[in-house]
Amino acid sequence: MSVTAPRRLYIKTYGCQMNVYDSERMADVLRPLGYGLTDEAEGADLVVLNTCHIREKATEKVYSELGQIRRMKERKAAAGGAMLVAVAGCVAQAEGEEIIARAPSVDLVVGPQSYHRLPELIARAHRVAGERLAADFTPEAKFDALPAERAPSGVTAFLTVQEGCDKFCTFCVVPYTRGPEFSRPPAAIEAEARALADNGVRELTLLGQNVNAYGDGEGGGLAALIRRLAKIPGLARIRYTTSHPRDMTDDLIGAHAEVEALMPYLHLPVQAGSDRVLKAMNRGHTADAYLRLVGKLRAARPDIALSGDFIVGFPGERDADFEATLQLAREVRYASAFSFKYSRRPGTPAAAMAGQVADEVKAERLARLQAVLEESQAEFNAAQLGRVLPVLFAGPGRKAGQIAGRSPYLQAVHCDGPMELIGQVAPVRIVSAGRVSLAGALASA
Ligand code: 5AD
Ligand code: SF4
Repeated sequence: MSVTAPRRLYIKTYGCQMNVYDSERMADVLRPLGYGLTDEAEGADLVVLNTCHIREKATEKVYSELGQIRRMKERKAAAGGAMLVAVAGCVAQAEGEEIIARAPSVDLVVGPQSYHRLPELIARAHRVAGERLAADFTPEAKFDALPAERAPSGVTAFLTVQEGCDKFCTFCVVPYTRGPEFSRPPAAIEAEARALADNGVRELTLLGQNVNAYGDGEGGGLAALIRRLAKIPGLARIRYTTSHPRDMTDDLIGAHAEVEALMPYLHLPVQAGSDRVLKAMNRGHTADAYLRLVGKLRAARPDIALSGDFIVGFPGERDADFEATLQLAREVRYASAFSFKYSRRPGTPAAAMAGQVADEVKAERLARLQAVLEESQAEFNAAQLGRVLPVLFAGPGRKAGQIAGRSPYLQAVHCDGPMELIGQVAPVRIVSAGRVSLAGALASA
């Protein structure tokens, strides 16, 4: 069968960077079938919603989007056309049957481990309303079967090296939606990284739900992988996310001291600062263990910028527990952080726990925590004033004549400069610091 007519593909991505990566790979797998990306759902031949299940709000957004898509689908049908609608990602994995029941406009449901089967599923959906559900847990098959080619990228790219989670934090759906921990073979990762570097990528972010649980099957962990990738010509910067405190090995901490390409930035979620809550969350570490880890990291790489995730209002969280979270946040002085009200996810152990916290209490705690986190972020940014930072320029800035990029600490930086610098690392003297970005002037090297 040859399919050559140009078809319009619209992909909407929700949630984490893993989904951003997966959306790119879905576009790659569909390109040979004649699907080209469009940024409008209206009139598209195939609409893919790559969904997130982490909190209730994320899931509800998907159903409301599906309502709008249904009307677009009806409009297209009225005009004699056809729109296929696919739900991918973690809602697909977790609520496959339910989506089909709740949203009859959905033609197919495809879980995160089945994207390589999209061409087949789409062909089937065209033929019959038959198989609409593909949700299994074999990441190996997925990565082997995705095309080696990736669309030309920009200056920065994501690369999934690990998927899944065996940690079973009691609030979290990921172990159920993404399955057990799985690491890709280093040779396949290196080949993909080299292809990206050949395409002009200068900064690579290694992705995994538990990226620092990465193992090559022969005793080598993420640090070994980073050392290997750091040798690829053209790759100037390496980052990785998201890490679990329990998997932060001395080897990996050491890599932060030794590997020049490894950026001094680490997303290391703690979730809470109270040992009682941490235990109920099944996090497998105490507040003190986390703080000691931060101490080790700062000893290895004194300028390392830390980022975190927090949940407030976990079942049973008392005022004193929450105060301990505030205390920990103040002590770590995060460069950036994400914080959420606890969201009750059906099927997770915490959903059934006693002591569910009232929404007003959650809201009040979240506001207080965010004030502390925003203050330390502003402080971190202000500390860069007058410093000269190497900036990897990724594109034009918002105003004419400006270029924009990222500091080693992942801060957005813009300054006046020539477009030729895009794709390069150049020194910038920081002259002003906002809440979320820095402005500077090109400095001579
Ligand atoms: N409620 C609120 N936040 C959650 N997260 C994960 N599950 C939940 C939940 N049920 C947060 C955690 C995690 C981040 C990706 O999302 O902080 O690190
Ligand atoms: Fe979810 Fe915990 Fe696994 Fe992170 S480590 S994905 S929060 S279960």
